[in-house]
Amino acid sequence: MSTKQVTIQTLRQMKERGEKIAMLTAYDATFARLLDDAGTDVLLVGDSLGMVVQGHATTLPVTLEEIAYHCRAVVRGAKRAHVVGDMPFMSYQASHEQGVTNAGKLMKDGGCHSVKLEGGAVHAELVHRLVTAGIPVMGHIGLTPQSYHQLGGFKVQGRDIGGRERLLSDARTLEEAGAYSIVLEAIPADIAREITAAVSIPTIGIGAGTGCDGQVLVSYDALGMDESFKPRFVRRYETLGAKIKEAISHYVSDVRTGAFPSDAESFSVAENKATPTAMDQVYSTVGKK
Ligand code: KIV
Repeated sequence: MSTKQVTIQTLRQMKERGEKIAMLTAYDATFARLLDDAGTDVLLVGDSLGMVVQGHATTLPVTLEEIAYHCRAVVRGAKRAHVVGDMPFMSYQASHEQGVTNAGKLMKDGGCHSVKLEGGAVHAELVHRLVTAGIPVMGHIGLTPQSYHQLGGFKVQGRDIGGRERLLSDARTLEEAGAYSIVLEAIPADIAREITAAVSIPTIGIGAGTGCDGQVLVSYDALGMDESFKPRFVRRYETLGAKIKEAISHYVSDVRTGAFPSDAESFSVAENKATPTAMDQVYSTVGKK
C-alpha cells in the first residue's frame, strides 16, 4: 500500500482500477492515527458524532464549529487518509452563499480535504459553486439522516415506485455538478449497483450492498462500542464496548483493593538521587511518532 496522501484523484483512479475504497468515521486524533495506520483510505468526520460522541438521538443538533473542532483533531492524527468534513444540518440548506461560506470555514478552520453534504439534485447548484471555489464535494443520497423528521425515521430509501429513477437521476446530477464521490446510504443493493455503473465517480455504500466502489461504516459501530446497537448493515469487527467495560472494571477493582499502583508504577526520592534528571521527564510525547 502506498503511503502517499489519498486525494480525490486517487479515489477516482481506484474506481477505474476496480480497487475498493475503505472509509470509516473518525472524530479524534488517536482514532484517526489507528484507522490511518490500518490502511483506511478516507476518514469522515461525520455528523454521526452527534449520536455516538455527544449522545443525541439524531445528528440534527451538531454545529459547524463542532465538526471543525473534530476535523482539526482528525487531521492531526491522519497521515495518509483523505479527511472529509461533514456539513451539519442547516449549515448549507438556507442559501448557496451560506453553504459556500460554511464549507470554506470547514476547510480553513477544520483543515479537512473536502466536504460532504446530504441531498441530491436539489443541491446541484451549491455543489457546482463549491467545486468552482476549489472545495471538493462528496454527495450523500438515499437515507439522509439530517432529513430524519421528513423521512419519518431512519428508513431504507428507494423501494417505492419512482425511487430507483430518483436516486439514479440524483447521482447523475451530482456527478454533472462536479461532486467527486457519492455516499449511498440504506438503499437496495441492486439500485446501488446500477448507480455505481451509471456514474464515473466512486460510490461509497453504507447499507447499500457490495456493488458500490467502496464501503463506509461508523467506526464505533464497526468496533462494537454500543452493545445495544446492531442494525443489519453493520458488521462488528470487535466487541470493544464489552472489552472496555471488562478492562475498566478490572482497573476499578485494582484501585479499590490497592493493587494499583505498584511500587514499579510509583516514584521514590532515592531513585531521584541516583539519576537526578530522570524524575523531571515523567513522560514525553514529543518525537513519539
Ligand atoms: O455522519 C456520518 O457518519 C455519515 C456516514 C454514516 C456516511 O454520514
